[in-house]
Amino acid sequence: MSTSFVAILMGSESDLTIMQFAADILKQLQINYEIKITSAHRTPSVTQAYISDAQERGCKVFISGAGLAAHLAGATAAHTTVPVIGVPIDSGPLSGLDALLSTVQMPAGIPVATVAIGKTGAKNAAYLAAQILSLADPDLAERVKAERVANSEKVQAQDKALQDSLSQ
Ligand code: RP5
Repeated sequence: MSTSFVAILMGSESDLTIMQFAADILKQLQINYEIKITSAHRTPSVTQAYISDAQERGCKVFISGAGLAAHLAGATAAHTTVPVIGVPIDSGPLSGLDALLSTVQMPAGIPVATVAIGKTGAKNAAYLAAQILSLADPDLAERVKAERVANSEKVQAQDKALQDSLSQ
């Protein structure tokens, strides 16, 4: 029997600092994941083989992050019908705009759910993966909802501290 998991892919070790934010949130939400360095350009056959193998072993969402001419998410989507979330990484002189356009501008029929550039995008990739998985996992759905409540309480506490400081 296969165990569901999320696969986090990145094009280079230099992407790890950003993609680790996705891994940390998956861990926090108790979601199984694998994390792998593999490149659409530098290791295309390894990338293809991993995607096929991961899908067979129960991968339910791919999160693919890359910078520059970022084709990893698109290459992932080309080899699977499992949902693919793309994270554009700001690793070059164009501050990630190159990666954003390379990731988001997919041809019809091969979608990549593209999130924001960099750290925020990596975090949202994990939350989006959690929301996809939670459609078939009521316990995870509760953890996702609890996270939203915690976020709301955090912002309200920040505002309360601000109002308190202003009234002194
Ligand atoms: C992309 O090139 C990688 O995803 C990375 O963001 C960027 C730079 O890679 P390195 O030169 O740091 O290996 O393929």
